[in-house]
Amino acid sequence: MVIKGKTYAQLMALLCLTSIACSLNAQHVVHATRNDKYVAPKSKAVQERLEWFRDQKLCLMMHFGLYSIWGITESWPLSTRDAFWARSDIEWVRDDAEFKRQYYALNKCFNPVRFNAKEIAKTAKRCGFKYVAFTTKHHDGFCLWDTKCTDYKTTSPECPYSTNPNADIVKNLFDACRAEGLGISAYFSKADFHHTDFWEGFGIGTATSRYPTYDIAKQPEKWARFCEFTKKQILELVADYGPIDILWLDGGWLKKERGHDMGIGQMIDAAREIQPNLISVDRMANTAYMDVRTPEQTVPDEPLDCPWESCITISESWGYHYDDSYKPVRQLIHMLIDVVAKGGNLALNVGPMPDGRLPHPALERMEKMGKWLAKNGEAIYGTRVASVASVRSWRFTKGKDGRLFGIRLWSEGERGFKHMLLNFEEKHGEVKRVVHLASGTDIPFKVTIGDYERGVMLDLPHEFSRDEFADVFVVEVEQKKGTLP
Ligand code: GLC
Repeated sequence: MVIKGKTYAQLMALLCLTSIACSLNAQHVVHATRNDKYVAPKSKAVQERLEWFRDQKLCLMMHFGLYSIWGITESWPLSTRDAFWARSDIEWVRDDAEFKRQYYALNKCFNPVRFNAKEIAKTAKRCGFKYVAFTTKHHDGFCLWDTKCTDYKTTSPECPYSTNPNADIVKNLFDACRAEGLGISAYFSKADFHHTDFWEGFGIGTATSRYPTYDIAKQPEKWARFCEFTKKQILELVADYGPIDILWLDGGWLKKERGHDMGIGQMIDAAREIQPNLISVDRMANTAYMDVRTPEQTVPDEPLDCPWESCITISESWGYHYDDSYKPVRQLIHMLIDVVAKGGNLALNVGPMPDGRLPHPALERMEKMGKWLAKNGEAIYGTRVASVASVRSWRFTKGKDGRLFGIRLWSEGERGFKHMLLNFEEKHGEVKRVVHLASGTDIPFKVTIGDYERGVMLDLPHEFSRDEFADVFVVEVEQKKGTLP
């Protein structure tokens, strides 16, 4: 059999490749969302705090550390077995041990003299971000606070930044964020490639992976020491750095069911004796200490029935890269709207430059997002999932007062028109009134039930001026008896 020049065998091979590609893609999404089993936290204080969390919607995430100096992938190049992807842009690595030595030695030149925490916090607030997530320690083990547990930190005399009055970057940033009324999410890596009870001899001369270099069943006391160190560090952050809203624990591969029990539950319990409503994000743990699901670089297809936060980079990388490419602002605004319509938060990651400033292309995009949010924030912050999350170019959110927000996403080059179909089906309630949020204009409408054009036809007034990225229409709906709110 031959179809358009292809034999049966060729077609079958093509089909097979396509389905492998699809399943890889699906796996990625599944890994990030559906596979996680959500167990709600028992504590009432935490449950309440999670309602606060759900209101926030937009987080400025920052990956900042030694890797920012070279503009390479964060920490992962140290893991020999991850070199194939994590070192793909580092041409000069010939000698694994020498590379590790040089990477670790970056603490001797970390000096972000233009890291202006107050400025960053002010910018974040102005641009509509409600909380800030910051890498207190990434997998490479370099600590950005004055930990007492290691000298591998910004405040150690070995690091030139230690003479700076703001050498305790975490303290400086968290204080600045609180002053602006921003929430705080402390990113902390459970894995620590610089700790010799995790990687013996700093992994130099070893083909390291993301796991400890030794069998923890054979050396339980070594593992216990590492866990104790982790606990001490977590408690330092929770005890000495003011109120923290979220403790975001990365290193999801270190989990009990895979034989790497770190006793995270006990650590969080101890932390909650200090801060009872601390939200714990033990990523991918599937335990009662994973209060929030964290899909990575992806947005779930459907609303999730638990608190969740997608972490997504504004560019292509977590840490600063000298030649990065940044997502268009339209895509960022639409992504935020899509996330919120599905009931989640967006942690948008920006990697500060080696001197500590945020890159200009990121700032430009953040400002534009802020401008859109200043006009349309009512449809975003504090909202919950509506009975329909999305229909074609429309996204829907629901205010706590019951108002429905229909958000029309405009694609680039899409022309404005006088009539517009709000694809909101009548079965969800009777539409009483439609108001354009940014201008306060009442929009005349009529309900249509044709086969093609089922929904609410908006008759846009002559003077209606469209937003560049998305317009919000507040839809006042009278609920029908028996329909879900
Ligand atoms: C990925 C990266 C890790 C980063 C994290 C943030 O897991 O490998 O380095 O910190 O995403 O979500």
